[in-house]
Amino acid sequence: MIRPAFSIFQSHLDLAHTYWETHLKKTSPPYVIVDATCGNGYDTLALAKMALIHTEGALYGIDAQEEAIERTQRRLRSELSAEVMNKISLAHQSHATFPTEIPECDLVVYNLGYLPGGDKTKTTHPSTTLLSLHHALSRMKKGGLISMTCYPGHIEGAEEEEALLEYTSQLPPQEFLVCHHRINNRSQAPSLLLIFKNN
Ligand SMILES: C[S@@+](CC[C@H](N)C(=O)[O-])C[C@H]1O[C@@H](n2cnc3c(N)ncnc32)[C@H](O)[C@@H]1O
Repeated sequence: MIRPAFSIFQSHLDLAHTYWETHLKKTSPPYVIVDATCGNGYDTLALAKMALIHTEGALYGIDAQEEAIERTQRRLRSELSAEVMNKISLAHQSHATFPTEIPECDLVVYNLGYLPGGDKTKTTHPSTTLLSLHHALSRMKKGGLISMTCYPGHIEGAEEEEALLEYTSQLPPQEFLVCHHRINNRSQAPSLLLIFKNN
């Protein structure tokens, strides 16, 4: 496989992190953030560092696999103080619905697909991801952002990306602004879908 060089363009993950950071800087704390696919906890940790150190807020992490919640918990504990850990809640459940205690959100992130280093059959599915997105859209603050990294390099991921693009293309432009970043000449490259709820 030829790996793209990101000398000018950022990778989908770096680009997502740049958007999260920019968005949070434009938003006033206390932040309410959801990582709807914790996985190995890298994104949850990055979000905690961006939003919770010396700042009020709450970060909710969700993953359907217990193994992912455990890995995330270990990663967070090894890097964050008890004070920051107190602002983070992890839930072992599907993101098809969010835990009821989560208030209106400033930022909801999805890094779709399967757990790297885990069982590849336990991947996100188009139907549950759409349900979850529908749920997230109804829980966003005005001026809130949803970020979804998509992986069309495997069949389920390609179907998922297609379903998300179709669904989000129908969102009313008075209410939401939708942006899709992808490398145009590599059909299987991961992409980044961003949904902004207008103020
Ligand atoms: C690509 S990984 C996430 C990587 C993670 N953000 C990180 O930084 O390490 C995708 C995760 O989605 C989780 N997942 C799959 N279906 C899910 C569902 N219905 N609800 C919540 N999590 C799900 C998988 O268990 C997996 O851990």
